[in-house]
Amino acid sequence: MGNKLETKKQRKQAEKGIWKAYIRLIFKAKLPWGWLIFLTLLYIGDSTLSLIFPQYAQRVMAGNLENTVIYGTVIVIFARVLSSGIIGFFNKLVMYKVDVSYRSLIWQRLMKAPLSLFNKVKPNEMVSRTANDTATISSVLAGWLPSIIAASYSMIGVVFVLFTYDWRLAAGVLIYIPIYAFSNIWYGKWKYRTNKITHNRLSTLTQFFAELLSSIPLIKSFAMEKKENERGREKIQYYYKASFRRAIVDWIQNPLNSLLNLLQDMFVIGFGIYLISEQAITLDVWIAFFMYVGMLWGILETFALLYTQLKQSQGATSRISVLVEGDLEQYVRNKQLEDTCHDLTFDHVGFSYGEEKRVLKDLSFTIPYGKTTAIVGPSGSGKSTILSLVQQFYEPDQGKIKFGDTDIAEYHLQDWRAMFSYVAQDSPLLSGTIRDNIVYGVDREVSELEIRQAAEAANALEFISNTPNGFDTNVGEGGTNLSGGQRQRVAIARALLRNAEFLLLDEAMASLDSKSEKAVQGAMEHLMEGRSAIVIAHDLSTIRDADQIIVVNEGTVDGIGTHDELMESNKLYQLFVEYLTEANAG
Ligand SMILES: Nc1ncnc2c1ncn2[C@@H]1O[C@H](COP(=O)(O)OP(=O)(O)OP(=O)(O)O)[C@@H](O)[C@H]1O
Ligand SMILES: [Mg+2]
Repeated sequence: MGNKLETKKQRKQAEKGIWKAYIRLIFKAKLPWGWLIFLTLLYIGDSTLSLIFPQYAQRVMAGNLENTVIYGTVIVIFARVLSSGIIGFFNKLVMYKVDVSYRSLIWQRLMKAPLSLFNKVKPNEMVSRTANDTATISSVLAGWLPSIIAASYSMIGVVFVLFTYDWRLAAGVLIYIPIYAFSNIWYGKWKYRTNKITHNRLSTLTQFFAELLSSIPLIKSFAMEKKENERGREKIQYYYKASFRRAIVDWIQNPLNSLLNLLQDMFVIGFGIYLISEQAITLDVWIAFFMYVGMLWGILETFALLYTQLKQSQGATSRISVLVEGDLEQYVRNKQLEDTCHDLTFDHVGFSYGEEKRVLKDLSFTIPYGKTTAIVGPSGSGKSTILSLVQQFYEPDQGKIKFGDTDIAEYHLQDWRAMFSYVAQDSPLLSGTIRDNIVYGVDREVSELEIRQAAEAANALEFISNTPNGFDTNVGEGGTNLSGGQRQRVAIARALLRNAEFLLLDEAMASLDSKSEKAVQGAMEHLMEGRSAIVIAHDLSTIRDADQIIVVNEGTVDGIGTHDELMESNKLYQLFVEYLTEANAG
């Protein structure tokens, strides 16, 4: 019971929030206001024509065939046809303009959003948000603002005209407005709920498909086809039930409104006949009145439609709001990074990705300038996380990271990140050619010779020359046309070419065979000479050659020293070396 109340309260709150979210969204993007106002004026012009029409029709129907009346009627009819065509055209135009504003806004925000957002919202979901939800919002906003203004204008006009005809008839009609409004608000909420359920199930279904389809080799190798087939069918059925329920809810709207319509018409006809028989009004007045009541229904239906549209887009709005309103990375800070010759210090740093688990605990160490520091430790101990914090992908929850005496959070972010050449553990590539990938993020003119030299130093030249198009070979989406080791060598070439002051290598050579590893190692050592470097590695020679080794275990420092010192004092390191020696021997 308490729970139910709670959810109802939450729903109310969410509902209140949604209006605010809408209004904020409207002002966040650079909307084409000029066009929107132009469209609104077109709508108002069209509504005016609709308001005028019964005035002429009434006279024609009552047998008044004067030239001015006939021409007037014909002109109004033509003007209405013309204006609906023009409105249709500009409506689409404005919708796409609004769409462009939102897509640009979202894209710009995503590029500057912190990585934590991308941990929360998974890629599939992100794609659906930027593609479908934006389209929903644009189509609603482009149509909504002009429609609501025009509909309000028509409504006032019609009600005014109705009262000028006969106040009793008009009052009788107006009673229906609240009934209509209530039934539609109730209906709109119902429709929103069923829509939301359907949408959720559909997105579960597509996420399931997307995930499984990208793991086909895994499914096949573990002979899970039958099981996954079954799971897929369940999800499909589950979605089918929700969508059928939604179809029924959609279907009910028509009979519901027809019923209300019918009651209303019966009233106008019955009461009208009575007033005519009493000679309180004439036939042509009654005809015009009847037409205006029809218009009133049209306008109420427009309001109802606008309301349901708004409710339906509520989900899209709140999802987009998360993207548009979250914090952005702060690029502009207080300090210029002028001198890069400093030590990098972790000062009691604590960090966790979410609330649950602390990944780094009270971590303190110094990465000396111009020296190579190796980080070793078991899988999941937080090594890659340390490199992420160094590059300020995330901020520490506790403690500070300092460069010289300054907190790194004070440097302009782009300057800071430009200081690093980073080879990530999974060496991501972008679709494009090998050349595109090697020069990615290099901010100067690069000669063909330089690219070749970088590829050669990364021991990648041989395999690149063996591909049919050499440097112009397409690497495929995410680099999938290359092997893991080839991708890694392209990533190393990229880091070599970038030639930054500070190297961050995360298992950069893990998927290379020992021959290419030896070849690349030479280039790496050359690169690391005289530069600061943090190297996460599993090969003994790299580790042994490091000026300093940090042993990390479960997010804390287990030991710091040179190879010889740690061999003396650190149990974990001894085990690690023992394991590596055995592995190499085996
Ligand atoms: N994006 C993330 N979101 C949430 N948790 C994460 C994320 N990345 C890593 N973790 C968690 O943080 C911990 C440390 O991960 P990290 O990648 O730093 O380990 P690692 O030492 O680099 O391991 P490995 O040697 O396997 O690469 C792990 O427990 C992991 O589950
Ligand atoms: Mg790692």
